[in-house]
Amino acid sequence: MHTKVWKIHSKNRLDKEIQGAADMLKAGEVVAFPTETVYGLGADATNAAAVRKIFEAKGRPQDNPLIAHVASVEQLNTLVTFIPDYVYRLIDAFSPGPLTYILPASDFCADNVRAGLSTIGVRIPSHPIALALIQAAGRPVAAPSANVSGKPSPTAAAHVFEDLNGRISGLIDGGQTGVGLESTVIDCTGEIPIILRPGGITKEQLELEAGTVMMDPGLVTSSEDRPKAPGMKYKHYAPEVPLYLFAGTDRAFRDFVDKEKQAGNRIGVLVSDQTADIFAEDTNIHRLGETIEEIASSLYDGLRFFKQANVDKIMCETFSEQGIGQAVMNRLRKAADRVIEE
Ligand code: TXA
Ligand code: MG
Repeated sequence: MHTKVWKIHSKNRLDKEIQGAADMLKAGEVVAFPTETVYGLGADATNAAAVRKIFEAKGRPQDNPLIAHVASVEQLNTLVTFIPDYVYRLIDAFSPGPLTYILPASDFCADNVRAGLSTIGVRIPSHPIALALIQAAGRPVAAPSANVSGKPSPTAAAHVFEDLNGRISGLIDGGQTGVGLESTVIDCTGEIPIILRPGGITKEQLELEAGTVMMDPGLVTSSEDRPKAPGMKYKHYAPEVPLYLFAGTDRAFRDFVDKEKQAGNRIGVLVSDQTADIFAEDTNIHRLGETIEEIASSLYDGLRFFKQANVDKIMCETFSEQGIGQAVMNRLRKAADRVIEE
């Protein structure tokens, strides 16, 4: 299959490319597009055969439901049968944006979008290209992250191309995404919202609008509960070489890396700008940025980076779980083979 790539650099040329991609969606093909979180792999959510192509292209387990992307609250309404009051407050505050609502599903979308569940995940993305594409398609667009299942999510068109070239019909290249981690997924079927996947909108932000917000107990690694979002039970976001997380002082981290190097291991180190300065000059370092927002935004690119760099192991620093740090650490723990505590 040939993958058609549209590059969108300037806003005024948006219409032509978007129309081409929307036509593909309407014809039942799959097209990757940028959102403010990560690139999505879209298909017409009302067309079961089109949705099936998403699962095939990604190698995605059949029991893992997809998010339906819509362009407005009116469109969201057609996909669900009930919306609690607190969801309207969350919509006012955070939609369009990186927040996905799990709500009781209407039968508007094809069954395989929700993998047979009675609920559906719905999100209004804020990226102008995503919004324009959904509008031009005139229907909800089912879209998981546009990576091969198990790999880090794509934050640049090059990542999508690397994973899916020849397996999808189209790709809109709209440059780098912003947030860099996926949307927060919240279960809104009960009286109190429950975070099933931490993401772009933090627990603190949600609580300002909706009062008490719970974390899915299944997200805690030591817990016996299973995560409620089917996708959260898989090992995920993993680079192609082993990833070790280091929890300890900077000094212990540097000593650990030095010892590994002396033992003949080729180590790639993934750290914040601040921590980068403690390592010897000949260390193979990839800097993720200074603030936790910058780190979130460049994390997946960092996880993919060392693939080309010929290392045996990636060692990554652990970060504070404040704000979006919670989502950063959730993704790192899922990607990691080992946590080293010293
Ligand atoms: O930011 C994002 O959310 C990106 C962009 C493309 O919008 N999408 C994304 O989709 O991350 P995906 O498929 O990679 O992750 C969706 C997550 C999975 O963990 C899935 O199990 C969960 O949401 N999910 C979807 N529908 C659900 C439902 N009805 N009940 C529980 N969990 C659900
Ligand atoms: Mg994904």
